[in-house]
Amino acid sequence: MEYTLSKIATNDGHGENSAFFDGWKAYDSDPYHPTKNPNGVIQMGLAENQLSFDLVQEWVKKNPKASICTNEGVDDFKEIAIFQDYHGLPEFRNAVARFMERVRGNRVRFDPNRIVMSGGATGAQETLAFCLADSGDALLVPTPYYPGNDRDLTWRTGIQLLPVVCESSTGFKITREALETAYKKAQDSNIKVKGLLLNNPSNPLGTTIDKQTLTESLTFTNEKQIHLICDEIYSATVFDQPGFTSIAEIFEENPKSYNPNLIHIVYSLSKDLGFPGFRVGIIYSYNDTVTNCARKMSSFGLVSTQTQHLIASMLSDDEFVDRFIPESAKRLAKRHEILTRGLAQVGIGSLKSNAGLFCWMDLRRLLKEATFEAEAELWRMIIEDVKINVSPGAPFHCSEPGWFRVCFANMDDEAVRVAINRIHEFVMIVQTKKQRYIRRGKLEVSLSFRRLDEIMMGSMKMSSPHSPMSSPLVRAMT
Ligand SMILES: Cc1ncc(COP(=O)(O)O)c(C=O)c1O
Repeated sequence: MEYTLSKIATNDGHGENSAFFDGWKAYDSDPYHPTKNPNGVIQMGLAENQLSFDLVQEWVKKNPKASICTNEGVDDFKEIAIFQDYHGLPEFRNAVARFMERVRGNRVRFDPNRIVMSGGATGAQETLAFCLADSGDALLVPTPYYPGNDRDLTWRTGIQLLPVVCESSTGFKITREALETAYKKAQDSNIKVKGLLLNNPSNPLGTTIDKQTLTESLTFTNEKQIHLICDEIYSATVFDQPGFTSIAEIFEENPKSYNPNLIHIVYSLSKDLGFPGFRVGIIYSYNDTVTNCARKMSSFGLVSTQTQHLIASMLSDDEFVDRFIPESAKRLAKRHEILTRGLAQVGIGSLKSNAGLFCWMDLRRLLKEATFEAEAELWRMIIEDVKINVSPGAPFHCSEPGWFRVCFANMDDEAVRVAINRIHEFVMIVQTKKQRYIRRGKLEVSLSFRRLDEIMMGSMKMSSPHSPMSSPLVRAMT
């Protein structure tokens, strides 16, 4: 029987076929394990925070009442299991509001009655997009940006994202000029711009947005009478100076200067606490209509009351929160230092960063030429030969080829050490190859960059036993 499906069901709006997700598939089919699969793919494409789980587990053991499936907590089981009000448990909204304040150094206040739940930041972004824009309208987004935005904000809503081009020469800073250029371009194409989406701290840059840039951005959106959405999912994942400034602070410092109806914050516990599986997302809007509408829409992505109950207990434990946030930052700082120092030892730079679960690695000098095709080729080599899944800049809409995001908090110390060793070896091989390429001139253009065989054979002597580059598989592939 002939049948057709909807445009949403048959279009590619999910983005599953991009290099961003390809790398995950490569990891899934051959995951690294120190003893069972030492030549497998090391996953450095996943922005997960696994460095402080011992603290969480310790808390869970000490607080059996927080779980309703224990002897101590079972008396609450029925009440929690039947609660279905989409406003959420009052204790959950209170605890989340207080936690968000604590993360912002108690410099701002959040009203628990404005806390709206969603299925992670993913659901929060889409809900806001539905509330703020119609199909065909656009949001401006500074580049590079988190690839999931394309799925979360555009796939089902039909809105579009337009890049605000930021460049490495200014440390990818968002400038008024870049904002105006993107806005004008949209106007020239008759596209209605409904807002600006900022991600602070930034994924993939790993940097916090400074106060001046935040103020300029808010002034820009206020002047244009468009919305400002701030995705602050990494607000407590800041491990070095300068600290984090929330858009809530900029607004509260000068509340009369800005229209509150245009300001919205997205938050989630996926990164700061490392709980992406719990799907705790938050929309905090200063606009009453948006808050009400988003709350009604939250019926499509509520957080389970069991999770709300647990999170309410955990986040209202000041002692736990006061220990967790600085300790997590300390561990992230250490891991960041190990990775960036390891990269620097072979001359690989990365954007100076102070936040997030990744660094923005600069491999421009390893590109055969400054194109996104060359970037894709280099990425394939890294995934297939070096067996590390890092994410190339193209899916992040980076305007310059050669930048890669490397996640560092989803693995243990040993895996990081192995990854750094592999990168060291790889850089030496590629440099040799590139020198030959340059020496031989244009005739070499047709020679595949992946044909590393003779160079690799030469370098086998220095390969570590854990190097996939010395494996028969790689030799057969090259
Ligand atoms: C900037 C940014 N926003 C949103 C998300 C989605 O987070 P969640 O797991 O809460 O849906 C992510 C996840 O990587 C992210 O990095």
